[in-house]
Amino acid sequence: MDESHVEGDLVDILYSEKQIQDRLAELARRIEDDYEGRELLLVGVLKGAVMVMADLARQFNRHVEMDWMAISSYGAGTKSSGVVRILKDLDTDINGRNVLVVEDIIDTGLTLSWLVSNLSSRGPASVEICTLLRKPEAQQMSVDVKYVGYDIPDAFVVGYGLDFNEKYRNLRSVGTLAPHVYS
Ligand code: IMP
Repeated sequence: MDESHVEGDLVDILYSEKQIQDRLAELARRIEDDYEGRELLLVGVLKGAVMVMADLARQFNRHVEMDWMAISSYGAGTKSSGVVRILKDLDTDINGRNVLVVEDIIDTGLTLSWLVSNLSSRGPASVEICTLLRKPEAQQMSVDVKYVGYDIPDAFVVGYGLDFNEKYRNLRSVGTLAPHVYS
């Protein structure tokens, strides 16, 4: 995509395509070490995690399986409602599996706390979380996030899977959206 079309909507590029890929490669090496000798199921959270999942998964030099869930916690606005609904459940039975939830961003952590307790109730061998981005508020959440790409300031960001009203997901970089777009 020619990003100049939306340039006026972004106030700042936080992470370039290269920075994102380099960080995902580092995370993949850590994950490979941590899961050595154990099977691994990546669970992506639609739709935002599509890009992270695709690029993280391709960094592995080992077998991984992938499955997807779609949950909804956001309306058309920019703040979490805390209400979570399953729109699409996993196809896989995760009983006895090592599950690594792959997320794009954690803001309040409400969505993820709910998701982790939901998945944990299905009898997996382990459940861990990998997120590309984490906002400050998320550090207060009770769930431990083992793999974090970048800790970012509390601003609304778009690109690389992250949307505002379903747009900007296809940007290769992550940037802050100018307040005039959503206020
Ligand atoms: P939480 O429940 O507040 O952690 O919200 C998590 C979900 O909200 C993420 O998976 C995103 O879909 C969405 N979200 C949170 N912050 C942003 C943002 O800055 N830009 C776009 N979507 C966001």
